[in-house]
Amino acid sequence: MRADEVVQRLKEICRRDCVVVVSGVPGTGKSTIAARLSEILGWEKVDLSEASLKHGLVLEEDKERSTYVIDEDAVRTWVRRKASEGPLIVDSHYGEIVDDDILMKLFVLRLRPDILLERLLKRGWHPHKVAENVEAELLGVCTANALEEHPREKICEVNTTGKTSDEVTEEILMTLAGERGCFLGIDWLSDPGIVESVLSSLARLDDLGEPNE
Ligand SMILES: Nc1ncnc2c1ncn2[C@@H]1O[C@H](COP(=O)(O)OP(=O)(O)O)[C@@H](O)[C@H]1O
Ligand SMILES: [Mg+2]
Repeated sequence: MRADEVVQRLKEICRRDCVVVVSGVPGTGKSTIAARLSEILGWEKVDLSEASLKHGLVLEEDKERSTYVIDEDAVRTWVRRKASEGPLIVDSHYGEIVDDDILMKLFVLRLRPDILLERLLKRGWHPHKVAENVEAELLGVCTANALEEHPREKICEVNTTGKTSDEVTEEILMTLAGERGCFLGIDWLSDPGIVESVLSSLARLDDLGEPNE
């Protein structure tokens, strides 16, 4: 199937009340990929954290520490209303909160945790925050969270390691159009080389950051 046929098919399948979620630990490429999908399909992209702050869908906000607790029910309702106007691409590491009846598929972007670590350090993140997210990737936390809320056939993992954002975008489009399977089962822990590399990098981070922050 040609790329333009894939896009056409998706526009037919998904007209409204239809949400595609791009999830994954920070740094795995959600915003990049969600923006590409939105551009190609002409569907609106929503970053749930941005939308929650913009529309006051938060329970508590601590401006000094720039942390907040989202009002999950309010966010769910907001997404429902928004999706009733047209298809949506949701960019969020907690995108599983979208109601199942409007969820088409949830993609979890996965990235080798040692590569993620370097990417997050380059962003200038605090070592403590880097470690927290690298551990979440190592353990597959985003996939586990998605599996708690939705049937497994709606959740697809995409291994982005060594791929360009165009390649990742294409895999997602092909899966949405039914031209490619929807896979689960990435397990970094089963590769001793990866685990060793991550543990030694985390030990190095420990030396950089303050303990028990
Ligand atoms: N497939 C990819 N290959 C290499 N680098 C990527 C890829 N996707 C994203 N990036 C880079 O990784 C960084 C994090 O991407 P971003 O989209 O902001 O992730 P997230 O929204 O999940 O935090 C950016 O600098 C981006 O350019
Ligand atoms: Mg982002």
